[in-house]
Amino acid sequence: MNTIKTYVKNNKERFINELIELLKIPSISADSDYKNDIVKTANAVKSALETAGCKIVELCDTPGNPIVYGEHIINEDLPTVLVYGHYDVQPADPIELWESAPFEPVIQITKLHPEGAIYARGSSDDKGQMYMHIKAFELMMQTDTLPCNIKFMIEGEEEIGSSSLEWFVKRNQDKLSNDVILISDTGMISMDQPSITTGLRGLSYVQVEVRGPNRDLHSGLYGGAVANPINILTKMIASLHDENNCITIPKFYDNVIEATIEERKEMAKAPFSLEEYKSALDIDEVYGEKGYTTNERNSIRPTLDVNGIWGGYIGEGAKTVIASQAFAKISMRLVPDQTPEEITELFKNHFESIAPKAVKVKVTPHHGGYPYVTPIDFVGYRAANKAYTEAFGVESIPQRGGGSIPIVALFEQELKSKTILMGFGLDSDAIHSPNEHFGIYNFLKGIETITLFYRYYAEMKS
Ligand code: BES
Ligand code: MN
Ligand code: MN
Repeated sequence: MNTIKTYVKNNKERFINELIELLKIPSISADSDYKNDIVKTANAVKSALETAGCKIVELCDTPGNPIVYGEHIINEDLPTVLVYGHYDVQPADPIELWESAPFEPVIQITKLHPEGAIYARGSSDDKGQMYMHIKAFELMMQTDTLPCNIKFMIEGEEEIGSSSLEWFVKRNQDKLSNDVILISDTGMISMDQPSITTGLRGLSYVQVEVRGPNRDLHSGLYGGAVANPINILTKMIASLHDENNCITIPKFYDNVIEATIEERKEMAKAPFSLEEYKSALDIDEVYGEKGYTTNERNSIRPTLDVNGIWGGYIGEGAKTVIASQAFAKISMRLVPDQTPEEITELFKNHFESIAPKAVKVKVTPHHGGYPYVTPIDFVGYRAANKAYTEAFGVESIPQRGGGSIPIVALFEQELKSKTILMGFGLDSDAIHSPNEHFGIYNFLKGIETITLFYRYYAEMKS
């Protein structure tokens, strides 16, 4: 058996236990109540890097959450890989839908995960995937096989828009100089079919507010005579898609690069079962833009979705009331060459223009991000492909992803380097949902694949 496999096998229990300790800290970036846990997690990541043998490790202060920076330069002439990951996690709610406590990790054997999966918030997104990189580094240090220089940059604000990381990257271009960026914060098709994510969607996120009368009104005394903000808001939102599920905002699709027939044919080769997809979600039918397949809808097409909507009375029983205000949070996933600035502006103008005079409308932009597409004809991709193919025994395939990691486009802009998205999660990991989990097989295979990546990247670069 080769050194990599042996090392992973011999240290398996310890790797898992260390990850479990990290998962116990509730590093929720969206909620300031967890600020201490954020700092605690950053320190835990710092110690983990030090223990693994990283020469320089710093906790970098930012206007927001600290960034853990590590650097292990063995030879200036060797290529340098910059590893990015995030130690912050999504809030756990709705907590009552978790079968075990979100920050008390448990290992569960399932049909899909005969080797077990670790159930905890952040297990797959992204603590578990980030930790694979620290363990792969440790492995290479211990077996004296590290063939590249490594830099680590692990942030604590990915789930809330990475604004401190943007601040940090813009101020530290030299420090962060690298030949390629490596990220494990995405997924793959299945355990039998590894894939490399070649694209991420961008994001435009807005909050909308519809204001009617100056106070909540008796729905009998006033009902029918004044505009009901909730009625109006839902009607406006409904009008944002047409009968074909196309988005109706004028010019919304103007900058969308349409995939060619060849590209779509290539995409359709990826293994996918619509029946399994539907049964995994307990739905009778899929739903989306006419003329596109499910895999196209969730990766190469832009979207508009309401993420939350509120207003009026939602307590127990009935209260006859016309609310004075109604709100919604709306996300739009973007594809090349749409930009968050352009789309936010188009949305705002359109949404204001369709509001009846009987209400006032306000659109507040939140964070955004640019879409990203990686080439597959460069050394980094070829090395990653070779690593996956060897580790899984099946050739990996390129696949555009539907999620967003907005900082990736900024890396290209500021650091002038390409990113390889080496994800090991599965769609069924339930990231951002109750019962998030990460397969132990995926975790260990990830460590193995990452180690192989360094080997082939260094070989191909020399
Ligand atoms: N790791 C995800 C992104 C992801 C997951 C991409 C799976 C592709 C496949 C990341 O942590 C995330 O959740 N990003 C957010 C965007 C952010 C600005 C809040 C997203 O995609 O909603
Ligand atoms: Mn993530
Ligand atoms: Mn996430």
